[in-house]
Amino acid sequence: MTVLFADVVGSMHIAAAVGSERLREIMAALLDVSGAVVNRYGGTVDKFTGDGIMAVFGAPRALEDHAVRACLAALEIQAEARVLSAEVGGRDAVDLELRIGLNSGQVIAGEIGSTTASYTAIGEQVGMAQRMESVAPPGGVMLSDSTARLVKDTVVLGDTQLVQVKGVDTPVRASVLLTARDQHSGRRSDAPLVGRTWELNTLGGILDEAINGAGCIVSITGPAGIGKSRLARETAAVARARDIPVFSAYCESHASDIPFRTLAHLLRASLEIDQFATDAARGRLRERFPEAEPEDLLLLDDLLGIRDLSVPVPDIAPDARRRRLITLINSASLARSAPAMYVIEDAHWIDEASESMLANLFAALPHTPSLVLITYRPEYRGAFTRISGAQVVALRPLSGAQASALTAELLGKDGSVTEVAAQVTARAAGNPFFAEEIVRDLAERGVLHGRRGEYQSHADLTDVQVPATLQATIGARIDRLDRTAKRTLNAAAVIGLRFGADILTVLDEKADVSALIEGELVDQVKFAPHAEYAFCHPLIRAVTYESQLKSDRAVLHRRLAAAIEQTQDAEDENAALIAEHLEAAADLKGAFTWHMRAATWSRNRDVATARARWRRARQMADQIPEGDPARLSMRIAPRTLLCGTEFRVAGLGDEAEFAELRDLCAAAGDQRSLAIGMAGLIQARFMNSQVSQATGYATELVGLLEEIGDPALTVSLSSAVLATKFEAGDVTEVLRFARRVIDLAEGDLGQGKLIFAVPVPTAIAVRGLARSCLGMPGWQTDFDQAMTHARTLDAFSFSGVSWYSYVMPLVYGIARPYATMLRDTADTLALAEQSGDDLGLDLARSARGIALIHSGGSDRDQGLQLLRTTCERQGRLQQQFSNILWIVKTYTAREQARLGDTDSAVKLARHAVEHLTAVGSIMWTIPATAALVEVLLTRRLDRDVVEADAVIAKWTTMTCELGVTLHEVWSLRMRAQLARARNEESSYQELRQRYRRKADQLGFEGHLALAASM
Ligand SMILES: Nc1ncnc2c1ncn2[C@@H]1O[C@H](COP(=O)(O)OP(=O)(O)O)[C@@H](O)[C@H]1O
Ligand SMILES: [Mg+2]
Repeated sequence: MTVLFADVVGSMHIAAAVGSERLREIMAALLDVSGAVVNRYGGTVDKFTGDGIMAVFGAPRALEDHAVRACLAALEIQAEARVLSAEVGGRDAVDLELRIGLNSGQVIAGEIGSTTASYTAIGEQVGMAQRMESVAPPGGVMLSDSTARLVKDTVVLGDTQLVQVKGVDTPVRASVLLTARDQHSGRRSDAPLVGRTWELNTLGGILDEAINGAGCIVSITGPAGIGKSRLARETAAVARARDIPVFSAYCESHASDIPFRTLAHLLRASLEIDQFATDAARGRLRERFPEAEPEDLLLLDDLLGIRDLSVPVPDIAPDARRRRLITLINSASLARSAPAMYVIEDAHWIDEASESMLANLFAALPHTPSLVLITYRPEYRGAFTRISGAQVVALRPLSGAQASALTAELLGKDGSVTEVAAQVTARAAGNPFFAEEIVRDLAERGVLHGRRGEYQSHADLTDVQVPATLQATIGARIDRLDRTAKRTLNAAAVIGLRFGADILTVLDEKADVSALIEGELVDQVKFAPHAEYAFCHPLIRAVTYESQLKSDRAVLHRRLAAAIEQTQDAEDENAALIAEHLEAAADLKGAFTWHMRAATWSRNRDVATARARWRRARQMADQIPEGDPARLSMRIAPRTLLCGTEFRVAGLGDEAEFAELRDLCAAAGDQRSLAIGMAGLIQARFMNSQVSQATGYATELVGLLEEIGDPALTVSLSSAVLATKFEAGDVTEVLRFARRVIDLAEGDLGQGKLIFAVPVPTAIAVRGLARSCLGMPGWQTDFDQAMTHARTLDAFSFSGVSWYSYVMPLVYGIARPYATMLRDTADTLALAEQSGDDLGLDLARSARGIALIHSGGSDRDQGLQLLRTTCERQGRLQQQFSNILWIVKTYTAREQARLGDTDSAVKLARHAVEHLTAVGSIMWTIPATAALVEVLLTRRLDRDVVEADAVIAKWTTMTCELGVTLHEVWSLRMRAQLARARNEESSYQELRQRYRRKADQLGFEGHLALAASM
């Protein structure tokens, strides 16, 4: 055992300064907090010595790591004393300082095992502790040699010194305790490992390879209790023995909807910032990433939850955040030459945001000397099961012989337990945890006597019932706890797998974990700076949780939610967690509010996560009893945002969701929400190449907006209408609506960011585009004005506007590349890479690519490469954004023809024309048809010329009634090309002349250049 002795420095002096009354107050406060600390570390306060405290660790209850616990308690008492001293110092102008001494050894103790109060420790060892105290520096902790030897691996000590102490002639060795190392785990020791030989060999082999630079991911799978965590621990021990650091993160069932939780935990562990306060942690981060961009570091701070709240988070789209963080973290881990091992436990509970980002991060893993170990249960089907190159170790139940060996380890070899052993083995069915729990259950019931590995039994086995399932066994053990212990366990289960002492006391003032630790239900996993505990196994938590009365649980959840709300700073970082607890407390409205707040918080960080929250909020709202006046509007709000943002996650446009929204809005007379949801649906349909459906809704939306008559709303939702109607070829209507929007905006170009990027510059650019297509003057002024403003906007708005102002005019032959255009498209791409979402990046890439291709020369190849990159990503999406994907395909077809592969070119161009025609994307049939005609006429088989003729005829019929001048220009060009292919010279000359004159008259520079080269 270890004795702790603490004493106030110069208490007489303090008494003289503040009076004995006040001194008593101060001492009482000090003793209070110290007593609490000692208890927390499993020690016993032996007596208060007037102005000091004496405590014992390791008696009456044996604690293997008594010396470590005493050290940690001593450090924490000093920390508490400093807090108190700051308070006292301010009020009473005195220095309050403690000296603490520790000594370990055999202590002769009276009445071992009796109640705390009457327990008295005596002996020479106590004297030594007191002497250590007397030579400790004020505010410090002095360890005797015997204690120092026990803890030297777990704490940091000053140099050993020789000190002269009272009553001892020769100087004795002593060391100052400086600080605790973080890695200490209070886990009780495991029973010897049984079996799992090949698994461990395999993992060892993979670890070897990883260390040598071929990083690897291994999954350990199997049902609860089969030994996944144990195998991970064994592997970690192998790694640690080779001085390889191991960093772990745990997923938890109740936290699987909390975005980036697991990732943040793993990063915090691996960056070793966990034990620091937030500002110190930020400092460390900056030491770790000396080369990083300051803005990237702000993003990382935000992810890790250590952001400086006085510095605003930069306005960066979630996708860009992800890209930049991945680059940042990967570059750091690629630069890291020292091997490391990472463990992700219970990935079946991982949150989606962490999962997808980690899966991304793992792509760089094979090039680093790291091993990633992931454990999960067989029901998990997530992204980690699909990582290419990952190994899987599937754990089977222990074999019969192994199971018997394990039982023997647990029970021992006494003849009296032979029969029990057979029962245990049979019941446990090869599940080691089940075996352990059965043995604990039997020991608690008195069927077994003694300690692990040395049990005896006097019971008549015919009476002994072993519960049939692991859950029932755990349940039986929980039932046997006394009231306090059970209440503590219940409260803990509500908090989660891991819980801190402080939050536990918030839920239950009288919480006491010592019985739970003794009963091997809970382990202490962290000592400094604050005690932290964990359930020994997730199943223990699950069973505890499930076995509580719902109503009791609800009270705890509600209290916990309130406590978290108390501690949370100005931001809604913990909104998701609060929502989870309120939901578990069956507080529908509270949960609804917090789910909505959590969604708002997530919106800039991850739209998909925000949407998951809105779905949860929707669930809450739907459960609110009918007749509640708030119900309808609560049901509408999340649905509106779900419909409104579906296009952001490449959704296809959920008609069912929208139909529900429409009904609810009708019932509530809420046209605004309907309009917002409809705009989102239009955009999703439009982006999914369903222009005809989108146009129908767009017409309805225009009418609806007229009816609502709110200028701001009309402006906000205009982008979807303009995009759709333009693509459908209704250019006249586009011009009218764009003008209306611009009028309504009254010169405020920055307004209207609701679910779309900033809409007014878009409307101006679209007005310019419509004007040019209709052969009306003034378009260049529109383009210039739109771009001037777009340059001040976010990446998505900037690239969106540049598509209308630059890309489409290029593609349609209205413009040719010019210096500002080339500079802007380069800037857009750079900005989109820095801060745009993936869609914005696609837009920027393709815009830049098309601009480069049109400038020709050496830029062409770079342009084509950009298009290919865009095409690859778009091709992977479920949704196919016609604007981008098909226009890119058209350019690809031209390129194929240029390289001589006319067969592929014809196929691709034909496919593009058919697709675009079928979906009603009239305006994109222009470049596609032009490309098809050109590649057909390049190949120029007889049937190709016939086909070209038919293609032109069909297209002309389709477009002529739209009255768009641009179509006429293209028609002239294509017909001229056809005439030449047919060797109809005079017809060709005439068409070419008309084409050139028309281009000249309209000022279409692109066409002028094309005509000149004919
Ligand atoms: N092969 C084994 N030999 C001895 N004990 C084992 C073995 N496998 C698991 N255990 C013990 O069984 C208990 C449950 O194992 P654990 O790894 O936590 O299961 P899982 O993570 O698969 O749910 C632990 O106490 C562990 O030490
Ligand atoms: Mg486990």
